[in-house]
Amino acid sequence: MTAVGIDAIEIWTGKLKLDLAETFAPEKGEDPEKYTKGLGLHASSFPDAHEDIVTMGANAAHRLMDRKGLRPDDIGRIDVATESSFDNSKPVSTYIAGCLEQVYDGDFHHANKGERKFACIAGTQSLDDAYNWIKAGRNRGRAALVVATDTALYARGDPGEATQGAGAVAMLITEDPDLVELSTEQGYGSADETDFLKPNQQFPSVDGKRSMQVYLARMREALEDYESVAGDSHPDDFAYVPFHTPFPGMVRKAAVLAYRHMIRDTPIEEALAEDIGFQPREDDFEDREAYEEAIRDHMDELKATDAYREWYDEVIEPTLDISREVGNWYTGSVHIARAAALKRAAEEGRDLAGEVLGVGSYGSGAQAEIHAETVADGWKDEIEQLNVDEQIANRYDLSFAEYENVHDRHNHDKTIEMEDFTVPNGEFVFTGRGRMNERIYDYVA
Ligand code: CAA
Repeated sequence: MTAVGIDAIEIWTGKLKLDLAETFAPEKGEDPEKYTKGLGLHASSFPDAHEDIVTMGANAAHRLMDRKGLRPDDIGRIDVATESSFDNSKPVSTYIAGCLEQVYDGDFHHANKGERKFACIAGTQSLDDAYNWIKAGRNRGRAALVVATDTALYARGDPGEATQGAGAVAMLITEDPDLVELSTEQGYGSADETDFLKPNQQFPSVDGKRSMQVYLARMREALEDYESVAGDSHPDDFAYVPFHTPFPGMVRKAAVLAYRHMIRDTPIEEALAEDIGFQPREDDFEDREAYEEAIRDHMDELKATDAYREWYDEVIEPTLDISREVGNWYTGSVHIARAAALKRAAEEGRDLAGEVLGVGSYGSGAQAEIHAETVADGWKDEIEQLNVDEQIANRYDLSFAEYENVHDRHNHDKTIEMEDFTVPNGEFVFTGRGRMNERIYDYVA
């Protein structure tokens, strides 16, 4: 069977930065460690005045197409995943294609374009759509372009305000990919939930604490469903496990849950039992509440063991390198987690080809999905092309008053004039609105 997966990836971060410890915490009267240690976040990325989900997505896609030497004729499908769309009819992919047509000969008239919505999991669903399209043989030799782009803003004062972020990930999906091959096996955990939603409003209604429980419950279901097709998972199966990362603290909770599940009935559980006992089994308890309390206590002990710490440091922690500097990118979040892990492996000189990643995606509302990815031979050359560290370092560092203006500027209910903080250079920019209230973009060479 032909391998299908991600051939190349590019990342575009919003060009502004809000430092959570230095700038945000003092204004909120909070201990900086609530953000840096508790949530595990150092900073958030924000879009400059000339940036939005279209420019960030188009800029990531442009870098990717240039680097791979692609022309519009090479791409047969453009899917954009976003939960920050500004139009209920015209998809963001049409705007992105329009931008790219400004800088390439040819056009995307032959390309099937769409917009995927299911909160943060839509980026992974778009990958699936591309995978299925290629596997079905409908691509006529062309590649698919998947763009996950979001401006993850919360209402001012919402507890989620500390987890904001903005950026885009562009991915090229092809046969015989250079980066990772996607598994056919997948697992889902999906239920009608009201943990986080935007009923025709820009900023989400969030039940923050519950959203974390729903994330974990759906992820557990997805893992069980994945194992029902792929067989039992073991911690040693995966070189890295990139999770959807609204903030690194959430991944800490998901990781210990996944580890507990995977070591059940294995020699690892047996060895650990000498120190912390066997995992509680539901059948040994009279009611669910008592069982859950025992599980919570056991997980507290489990996460303090050397075996768990070593696994976490090797398999999970590297996936957080980018997220902790940029915040939540919603649809792009799990994809920067994968990129961060591969980047760390390249920096450490690891030979990853043939190794497997376990990828855990999540979208509120709610759905989790788990699949595996096999690292391809060309992964190192691909991942070394990323300049995300440089982008992160070059962001303009906002004062709190400037942050307030930036938030207003990107609030759809406000019309705020704001000077750019950065000078556009070789990128698409938002220039205003047209006769039908459409958004207009230019390329600044
Ligand atoms: N030093 C160290 N740690 C500290 C601390 C300090 N001084 N003060 C607090 N902490 C710890 C807390 O103990 C807590 O950690 P634990 O959960 O491990 O106990 C952590 O810092 C956060 O503190 P709070 O729980 O008090 O923070 P909060 O209530 O103000 O906000 C939140 C947390 C509810 C997650 C909020 O950020 C939020 O609503 N976020 C948006 C929703 C979200 O991201 N949900 C995640 C799952 S849903 C999803 O993944 C989809 C998506 O992308 C949105």
